[in-house]
Amino acid sequence: MQTKNTYRPAVHFTPPANWMNDPNGMVYINGEYHLFYQYYPSAPHWGPMHWGHGATRDLLHWEHLPTALYPDELGCIFSGSCVLDKDNVSGFGSTDKPPLIAVYTSHHTETHQEQQSIAYSLDYIHFEKYYGNPVITGEGKTDFRDPKVFWNPVKKCYSLVLAAGENVEFYSSPNLKDWEKTGEFQAGIHGLGGICECPDCFPLKTEEGEKWVLIISMILPPEEIGKHNNAYDRMSHITQYYIGTFDGNTFTDTEESGFPLLPDFGTDNYAAVTFQNLEEKVMIGWADNWDYAAKAPTQNDGFRGKMTLAREMKLVKTDRGYRIAFSFAGTKALEAGAFPLTEGDNRLHTDSFGLKAAVNGTGSITLANDAGESVEIAVTEDEIIVDRRRAGQTSFQEDYGKESYGLNRAPRLLHHTSQMELIFDRCVLEVLADDGMTPFTISLFPTQPYDNISVAGDIRAMLYHLR
Ligand code: FRU
Repeated sequence: MQTKNTYRPAVHFTPPANWMNDPNGMVYINGEYHLFYQYYPSAPHWGPMHWGHGATRDLLHWEHLPTALYPDELGCIFSGSCVLDKDNVSGFGSTDKPPLIAVYTSHHTETHQEQQSIAYSLDYIHFEKYYGNPVITGEGKTDFRDPKVFWNPVKKCYSLVLAAGENVEFYSSPNLKDWEKTGEFQAGIHGLGGICECPDCFPLKTEEGEKWVLIISMILPPEEIGKHNNAYDRMSHITQYYIGTFDGNTFTDTEESGFPLLPDFGTDNYAAVTFQNLEEKVMIGWADNWDYAAKAPTQNDGFRGKMTLAREMKLVKTDRGYRIAFSFAGTKALEAGAFPLTEGDNRLHTDSFGLKAAVNGTGSITLANDAGESVEIAVTEDEIIVDRRRAGQTSFQEDYGKESYGLNRAPRLLHHTSQMELIFDRCVLEVLADDGMTPFTISLFPTQPYDNISVAGDIRAMLYHLR
């Protein structure tokens, strides 16, 4: 049990110092998961962006590696992706030593012009920028960013999807250097509209064959924020997903559900993307919120910004259509040591732990401390509600303390027995409810560690330690 309160999480990735936002360039190589990220190494707030770099073998314990990309004359280094070029189509390496190619946005600091550039690495740590940058010019556009490269199984080449204003655009390339536009998708048609950011596009297996998922993070137009005060419009930034087909040129949304599908119902999961070169589809998001991240009270612990845990995805058919079901990808080995909690109060001897719970009816789980602070996860007939309004510090920023941000709610998808997974790690809570189809990621700042967990109602929970 910690004696001094620290907010730096034990198993969630945080930068070595100062500011971090989006995950970038996630790729799996030789047993190692690499994570690059939007990094401003000089101050605990957003600034000229670099790509920071971390790596892990178990998705829980991270090593910091040298900063991978620094700003240059084309601008600073905005979000993007990496691809392990196994066939050396780029010619930057060889098939024995496949180059790792980073495809990122060069954002010009004065003109705000955004263009796509590439860099390559042969040791997967140090990068050389391509002399022919930019590789996609964007003709002066200012909202034209965040390329995510993926294998195009139809054309048998690499494609990328990037954010272009209120649309996303698809490009393909024979060599990762010469790119040609193949199509676009209008985000606002079967979902919410706004300026798109950080798209990702990938296939997932289902009983009815493969389906494609398109994920888009989005800045809502100011006049839309808070209009209905629901999960979709309460914040300036949200992430949504679409399910459909990819014909080699563009994505088509075929599961028109009538409302946006959200990969997270909490306040703190943005710009989430998946690993390249990994059989399973595993996602990590930035576990913060643009509305208040720059004021988060973690500067005394030397960092601002944290990532979600890695979550594996499956597509599941429900009576309301297909949904992504998430599960924690790195915690399986630790779950073996889980022990049951009793109904009522349990003393906690840890400030980073996981719970596996069987939800057989309605009930709640509450984490509390002696300072009178608590966070409650309630399962009702109709809703899952995560209430962080009294969880700890709230006054560091006005949005954070708002009712609409403090009360996180989502409609229930299941009415039979379901599984719930929960992770608490010092300043971040992740809940995967209704068999993982209803996730919540929430930042919270207790002034002293929660040392009591109480379970009420028809919930049977097992606890394991995160070490
Ligand atoms: C999303 C985002 C991206 C951009 C990056 C800049 O959070 O705005 O669109 O590339 O952050 O740091």
